[in-house]
Amino acid sequence: MAALIETKKLVKAYKSGDGVSTILKGIDFSVERGEFVSIMGRSGAGKSTLMYQMSLLDEPTSGDISIDGTNTRHMSEKEKAAFRLRKFGFVFQDYALMPELTATENIVLPLLMESYTFTQAQAMAADALTRVGLGHRLHNVPSQLSGGEQQRVSIARAIAEQPEILFADEPTANLDRESAKVVIDLFLELHAHGQTIIMVTHEEEYGHVADRIIRLDEGSIVSIEKGVRHAHARKQPTKKQSKK
Ligand SMILES: Nc1ncnc2c1ncn2[C@@H]1O[C@H](COP(=O)(O)OP(=O)(O)OP(=O)(O)O)[C@@H](O)[C@H]1O
Ligand SMILES: [Mg+2]
Repeated sequence: MAALIETKKLVKAYKSGDGVSTILKGIDFSVERGEFVSIMGRSGAGKSTLMYQMSLLDEPTSGDISIDGTNTRHMSEKEKAAFRLRKFGFVFQDYALMPELTATENIVLPLLMESYTFTQAQAMAADALTRVGLGHRLHNVPSQLSGGEQQRVSIARAIAEQPEILFADEPTANLDRESAKVVIDLFLELHAHGQTIIMVTHEEEYGHVADRIIRLDEGSIVSIEKGVRHAHARKQPTKKQSKK
């Protein structure tokens, strides 16, 4: 079966002055359905750039991105936008909520711009907010919510349509430790229910909860590691081995 998302020889370069700076230098990588992958590396390594290419928010200079076996290279902007809406959910560091709208309205509005009725959108918003533990904050505007709660509203918005892939770029960067942990635990819970997640982070502690960690440096993959939960699971002897 095809990987859910696969990049082949992905290159992203920008013109800079009279030269060209190559930000992604040929990334070959794939993510399987149901996987939780974190993209790590120091500032400027190309993490966000890679996420933007994988999620079709930006166009690579060369190379291919296939989603569910479909090569996206020849898709029109319109087709890509439709793909993003239908298949992807996005979470960003700054929450990107509309300040004058309640938690519910922040989720309902984008759904109305698609083909959902008001009643459907309301139900989907309430359901998503309940899933992130904010069933009691449906009618608060962002200024009446903590940073962690605002991020959870943005996660609810991202999962309201049950996207195939949840992309998150530094979702914990603006949060204190306690709120960051709530967000990471929420991702783990979504993941346990089958959600595919691709998360960019520079925080080791949070990156390591993923199934796999891809580490970037200067636009190249320098390592692909198993996350700490899996590393621990492997270290424990199985019953069969311990009897020996
Ligand atoms: N539109 C652009 N034009 C020119 N250069 C860019 C553009 N976008 C990003 N870059 C450069 O690409 C490099 C990688 O940027 P990117 O945002 O992917 O890094 P990052 O790993 O996400 O870093 P951070 O941890 O700071 O968010 C940086 O050197 C950045 O200056
Ligand atoms: Mg970044």
